Amino acid sequence: MSLDTTAHTATSPHPAWLPPTTLARLGDLTTTLDIPPHLADHPVITTLRSEITHAAHNATTTEHPGRASATTTTSRTLTLRLTPPTGATNQPASTQFLGDPHDDAYTLTTTPDTITVTGRTPNALLYGYFALLRHDLTTLPPTSKHTPATAIRMLDHWDNLSVHPVMGQIERGYAGDSIFYTNGAVRENLTRVADYARLLASLGINHVAINNVNVERDAARLLTDNINDVARIAAIFRNWGIRTHLSVSFGSPMSLGGLTSNDPLDPQVRQWWADTFTAVYSVIPDFGGIVIKADSEGQPGPFAYGRTHADGANMLAEALAPHHGIVHWRAFVYNHTQDWRDRTTDRARAAYEHFAPHDGTFADNAIVQIKFGPMDFQAREPISPTFAAMPHTNLSLEFQVTQEYTGQQRHICYLGTQWSEIMRFTFWPTSNPHTTLADIPVSFTAVSNVGMSAYWTGHPLAQANLYAYGRLTWDPTADPGDILTEWLTLTFPHTPAATRTTLHHIMASSWDTYEKYTAPLGVGFMVSPGAAHYGPHIDGYEYSPWGTYHFADRDGVGVDRTRTGTRFVDQYPPELADQYNNLDTCPDELVLFFHHVPYTHVLHSGKTVIQHIYDTHFEGVDKVLDYQRTWDNLRDTIPTAVFEEVSTRLTEQVRCAHEWRDQMCTYFFRKSGIPDTHGRTIY
Ligand code: GCU
Repeated sequence: MSLDTTAHTATSPHPAWLPPTTLARLGDLTTTLDIPPHLADHPVITTLRSEITHAAHNATTTEHPGRASATTTTSRTLTLRLTPPTGATNQPASTQFLGDPHDDAYTLTTTPDTITVTGRTPNALLYGYFALLRHDLTTLPPTSKHTPATAIRMLDHWDNLSVHPVMGQIERGYAGDSIFYTNGAVRENLTRVADYARLLASLGINHVAINNVNVERDAARLLTDNINDVARIAAIFRNWGIRTHLSVSFGSPMSLGGLTSNDPLDPQVRQWWADTFTAVYSVIPDFGGIVIKADSEGQPGPFAYGRTHADGANMLAEALAPHHGIVHWRAFVYNHTQDWRDRTTDRARAAYEHFAPHDGTFADNAIVQIKFGPMDFQAREPISPTFAAMPHTNLSLEFQVTQEYTGQQRHICYLGTQWSEIMRFTFWPTSNPHTTLADIPVSFTAVSNVGMSAYWTGHPLAQANLYAYGRLTWDPTADPGDILTEWLTLTFPHTPAATRTTLHHIMASSWDTYEKYTAPLGVGFMVSPGAAHYGPHIDGYEYSPWGTYHFADRDGVGVDRTRTGTRFVDQYPPELADQYNNLDTCPDELVLFFHHVPYTHVLHSGKTVIQHIYDTHFEGVDKVLDYQRTWDNLRDTIPTAVFEEVSTRLTEQVRCAHEWRDQMCTYFFRKSGIPDTHGRTIY
């Protein structure tokens, strides 16, 4: 076994799931590209050609497991065949804006001597080629077709051009500086962007928004004065079949165009946007479109003119339509200046109230982008009811790969488990159980977790989250444990199988562990409301204007969102509303999200709420200590640099988990006066 001691750096980053050894498997195949002449020079085909050369080079220079000698080649051939549709296709009008998942689909056909990848677009061939890395080529079925769930599989970057005084270079970034920007401008050297694009393409990600949704003035100019710099980034992504998007400010007509209004119904404002996009597309013909956060957390929006979100989104959609661009309009809209004394306002209700009444009025190229939960990417919250309330609108399901509320890439927290559970959720458990959340959106989006970190993601194991996001957005029915196995096999090819099994064990349980030692039973937050959002800070939001409360007092805890409380439950379809409204049927893990209950309330698990809080916090810490002990035993089997990096972060995870446990147990013991039945130390 060889132990890689390579020190990874910002300029020579960790190869993630595409190390030379992994690629070498493809280099063993004698590969032919079968491409119609008119597409022979397509940028993605050019990329594919260089990937094939690269793999062949790796095959002759890399020692890789499963092969007797470095010079052995197999006689098996691989053909990548592009079969573009001929004649007029009968595509529905919506696909001209939203794309067609079948364009990305690839078919694998095998015989003992041959493998053929067939697809109707260059992207499909690229995806099929990389997919071979994930398969055991000796057991592939004679034929299999692979079609993604949606045509748009996107990552959003919250990268700032300049270092923001509070948020830093990347808002909620835990992996170093931006790969796109430095010193207020697009980087001269974009090598990392090319490497990133390759990683994303290997998973089927095909859209990327490159700047923060909170658009500062210098970033707003990316759309206008600095569009040529965006074009440099777009040219790199284009080679990997990825379209580039920008986050824009609704205030641009005034702030950049010198107009006196941003009113979406003002003809001059509409003309400004139309002219601006015409200029953008003259430089970036395949520009994907825009992401916009309006009337949210201080960003400008249509409310200032008495207009709706549909008015705002449709104005931008109209300006983008001639160029086939799309608007991702975010539904993350709520009152962040509320008075904590006001018990009638419930932040959880906000997205539904702002958007559901406008269902069916959004343009064909407008997509309403909804966070998976009604709050804000918590480790546990219910699914946003807005997804079930807008059947006549294009929707996007938004995740957060960057671990803002799930350990900030200092804690091991494999989120594939959470996202899989979310995607498999159904709003209609009895009447329509087979329609899952993943069947609803036309696009998947997520906040990316990468930066200039030598490991891309700060915590080396957080790479698995980026990987899982890509794999699940292609196939939401994929098993998150299988995805983890894939990631471990590709990323650690020289590591003994037993070590990978141990790592799998740690990572597969890590979301559950994180939930155990942080906020209990769906209540959420309990972190500092300032920039950090790190925990624990149990009363952090209790008296803040951002509107998130646990309402703990001497008798009980939780937020009453039932029909006798804020009535949030009634935003769900009736059968689910009834289930959540009733304490007897509300799932334990969400009980404090929906109900205010006495500490002595007995959960379905048979434990009281207070004993559940004590037990889970002690269990959570024990699990993290166990991770640390287990990890220490892997020292001799994990590449040294990765081992050290993870060890350092585990020390912080252990410290933080203890802090959560002791503060939570102490806080709730002091509130309730009810002792732990096991008599453990509480302060
Ligand atoms: C969270 C996050 C913010 C971000 C916001 C958003 O609240 O803390 O930094 O701007 O989400 O999604 O827009």
